[in-house]
Amino acid sequence: MSATNLLICPICRLSLFQLDKALKCERGHSYDFAKSGYINLLSPGKMNNAKAGDSKEMIRARSDFFSCGAYGKINDKICDLVCEFEPQVVIDAGSGEGYYTNAVARRASGATVIGFDMSKHGCESASKASRRLGLDSLFCVGNIFELPLHNECADMVINMFAPTAHEEFHRVLKAGGHLIVVSAGEHHLEGLKRVLYDEVYLNEADTPSYEGFELVGKENLSYKATIDGQEAIWALFQMTPYYHRTSLADKAKLEVLDTLTTTVEVDFLIYKKI
Ligand SMILES: C[S@@+](CC[C@H](N)C(=O)[O-])C[C@H]1O[C@@H](n2cnc3c(N)ncnc32)[C@H](O)[C@@H]1O
Ligand SMILES: [Zn+2]
Repeated sequence: MSATNLLICPICRLSLFQLDKALKCERGHSYDFAKSGYINLLSPGKMNNAKAGDSKEMIRARSDFFSCGAYGKINDKICDLVCEFEPQVVIDAGSGEGYYTNAVARRASGATVIGFDMSKHGCESASKASRRLGLDSLFCVGNIFELPLHNECADMVINMFAPTAHEEFHRVLKAGGHLIVVSAGEHHLEGLKRVLYDEVYLNEADTPSYEGFELVGKENLSYKATIDGQEAIWALFQMTPYYHRTSLADKAKLEVLDTLTTTVEVDFLIYKKI
């Protein structure tokens, strides 16, 4: 299945068809593919600018951090889980810079894999990586609460460390399709928090119910990771929510650190569309 056949116009919701280097709908709305291969399908006027989603710096920080391999086990786990279901069409809702999306595209070869993210920088970085790796995953700048996708076109939605637009995921999933929500576990990055704060609170790791879905699986991955080097530690910090809410005095504690050992704990919640 070609990825572009699954897409609809974000303005009039009609099918899109490919003409040269653009996707067009019958009403004449047209969307160009960027040089790097991604396509911008964010409705005009809806945060459709370079500031929407994560910034270039945040995306670069995330890429730098991923390259140190500390989240490799999360990557292996999501690929294992996705492959268990042998999906034909996988949507990554909130794909960021495509680390997990491209890994899934590589492992589930033959599947059509599309990543959506509000951040143009994220989609650009993801798309470049996809080409570099010789994959055919497609990245679209788009709002995951209004996915430019046909109803019931996907076998699986993965949603990692991003907002959960469960009603929209329900609309785009086929009957019996699966949603995998990946989020921080209770002790995730506790080591990092212990460096930053005098008092450390655990994360709230709940298991929400979503209308139209039944929870069919819950897996927890927990391990200790050692992150070497000031740059990698800072890159990790930048991709956490703590980066924006930590005082300068507390941030300074991290700047003098050359090695950080921390728990990485992630929950994988697997839902089936009923
Ligand atoms: C913490 S990042 C996680 C990215 C990726 N899944 C990962 O784990 O590396 C959250 C991502 O969600 C995106 N995002 C947030 N709200 C969004 C929305 N309404 N539509 C699309 N993307 C959104 C951000 O731009 C960001 O890239
Ligand atoms: Zn249109």
